[in-house]
Amino acid sequence: MGIIVNEKSKTITLHTKHTSYQMKIGNLDYLIHLYYGLTMYDADLSYQIKQYDRGFSGNPYESRDARTFSLDAQPQEFSTQQQGDFRVTSIEMVNSDGSYSFNGKATDYKITKGKYNLETLPTVFATDQDSVETLEVTLEDTVSSVQVILLYSVFEEADIITRAVKVKNVGKENIQLKKIMSTCIDFLNGSDMDLISLPGRYGQERQVERQPMTHHIHTIGSVRGTSSHQQNPFIILCDRNATEDYGKCYGFSLMYSGNFLAEAELDQYDQLRLVMGIHPKQFSFEIKPEEVFEGPEVVMAFTTKGLTGLTHLYHDFYRSNLCKSKFVKDVRRPVLINSWEAAFMDFDDVKLVNIAKAAKKMGVELLVMDDGWFGKRDDDNSGLGDWYVNEEKIKCGLHKLVEQINDLGMKFGIWFEPEMVSEDSNLYRAHPEWTMEIPGRPAVRSRNQLVLDMSRREVQDYLIEKVNAILDDANIYYVKWDINRSLADIWSNAQPAEKQGEVYHRYILGLYRVMDGIIKTHPDILFEGCSGGGGRYDAAMLSYYPQYWVSDNNHPIDRLKLHYGTSFVYPVSTMGAHISDTGKFVSLQTKAVVAMCGTFGYELDATHLSEEEQELCREQSDLFRKYYHIIFKGDYYRLSNPFMVGNMTAWQHVAKDKSESLLSVVVTNLTCNGPQEYIKAKGLDPAALYTINDGKEVYSGSALMNAGIPIEREVPEYTAFQFHIQMVKE
Ligand code: DGJ
Repeated sequence: MGIIVNEKSKTITLHTKHTSYQMKIGNLDYLIHLYYGLTMYDADLSYQIKQYDRGFSGNPYESRDARTFSLDAQPQEFSTQQQGDFRVTSIEMVNSDGSYSFNGKATDYKITKGKYNLETLPTVFATDQDSVETLEVTLEDTVSSVQVILLYSVFEEADIITRAVKVKNVGKENIQLKKIMSTCIDFLNGSDMDLISLPGRYGQERQVERQPMTHHIHTIGSVRGTSSHQQNPFIILCDRNATEDYGKCYGFSLMYSGNFLAEAELDQYDQLRLVMGIHPKQFSFEIKPEEVFEGPEVVMAFTTKGLTGLTHLYHDFYRSNLCKSKFVKDVRRPVLINSWEAAFMDFDDVKLVNIAKAAKKMGVELLVMDDGWFGKRDDDNSGLGDWYVNEEKIKCGLHKLVEQINDLGMKFGIWFEPEMVSEDSNLYRAHPEWTMEIPGRPAVRSRNQLVLDMSRREVQDYLIEKVNAILDDANIYYVKWDINRSLADIWSNAQPAEKQGEVYHRYILGLYRVMDGIIKTHPDILFEGCSGGGGRYDAAMLSYYPQYWVSDNNHPIDRLKLHYGTSFVYPVSTMGAHISDTGKFVSLQTKAVVAMCGTFGYELDATHLSEEEQELCREQSDLFRKYYHIIFKGDYYRLSNPFMVGNMTAWQHVAKDKSESLLSVVVTNLTCNGPQEYIKAKGLDPAALYTINDGKEVYSGSALMNAGIPIEREVPEYTAFQFHIQMVKE
């Protein structure tokens, strides 16, 4: 069905397989939002909109005889500025005459086949351009000659609608953009809605919080220059009674890696406005005549199938339409071992080869040399920026080291932190002006490092050249791209004083250019993102990296929460998860079961493991490879909530054809003489018969889902169970 325009009623309706989204060029040509939800067959839903004389809300001048028309009470697709709508705004700009005003009226629209593209920012893509339709609506303020172009792409089969925005100066004078939100949705009644967000901190990223909408502005955002550990650019608005399995849920995932803001305002009339886009903090972007500013994309989904239904929509879509790396679909990710927790920066080539030899016995396929291999980097006070091999540590040279690892039948990976610089580095000594430091003020240090001015072309070119030189010098299979601090001292020596408000955003544009220049030119390398754990885990980053390090916290019991929270939007295949020494009372087996809810690998000194432990690890690595297709390609179910009091945490992966499933349980709390507990499976074929772990007994899918699987009681704390559920072939 795609996009349907009704010229008579002036409605435009976007249809996906199960949802509809409607807008209308309404009174005085304002673009009115009418509906987003389950498929709607009515042609014109504007009958829902009532008008009253709302005191203190103001009426547009042209409607002065009609005191009942106020933008303060009208649902809109993009809100105006200073036109009597006092809710959170989509735009704030200063015209050349100094006025703060934007009165956008719909002047044009067009529908095209295929997905829209943004020139400066990453977006999702269509796998088949014929299956996607795009709507472009132009809103114009004729006084200031500014156009706002609203972009919508409809992914019918995936039940996904994306939105983005462009601001075009069609006048003759410069304007200053102070705020631009990529999406604005006005729900006619939001008093029964909840907001779910993923707040956190270092080591505890993406914990889950749910709060009821009340009459104020709920803001979720980051002003750290990155999308951050503390908040995530993803939110859910759902019915108050929505659960994992039932209820209306809306998802909004922003494709942006810098400062972001989502504002959800329940207004005086119980209408709920959600806007989401770049955070306006210290943002002021000059747009010259004929120039266009692009705002990042928001990926929206709706379902009545509860939080799990929403998760499935995002997982499926992000597994096929977000990242073009061959490692998303076609090439299995290798089991890796990372040197960080094994050696930190205290290693040389011999130590790495020894770790690799031991890891080989554990079924590991890739050795990753983490921080410490370059410049003068014996601790975290120096070396960043000097991207050449430290031959005092890697005495044989990188090329030879990689060869030795390859000769073991293993692949080799390497770590970078391109955006940062140490004061004690040759780069800083040569180019102190490349660093973000406000003239006359000492810069804020964090992990004793400073931030490179990624908005500068020379910095971008330097990084592209230096990182590519390393990648092209040896047989590198994998790269971990880290960033270990938040941004402060926002300043670019390359910009005049009046343009410093552009630097936060220009940093991100520069970063994406560098990533294009390194990642897209190395399609055979597997890239993993990292930010002191999972501090910049967002959809834009995942369009470059097929996987992202979830957290520096490898404690398997904490990981249950970390994986749970991350899973609401980001596929399991993106979650970097390793077994480490952290959690000394937790068995290797439990650690492995937890790490299998992700990319699976090790982060420990393999040479310290006994032969039995190495053998156990080998069995676990083999199991991961055996279950890979279910974990990476199947549907993911959260069977219990680790944030609630309970005795176990369980989750499940189910193959798309329901023929196979992997159900994992970790006992987190032992109760003395407690009740028998059961875990109820999900997603199986109720009528089909299944075996568990190749046993002889046969169970129906409906029994496993409704009666459940009894979990053994008399077990040590933190015991884990893995049930491989397989359909019996006729
Ligand atoms: C932070 C990362 O999260 C760690 O895994 C490790 O790579 C260190 N940085 C290295 O400095």
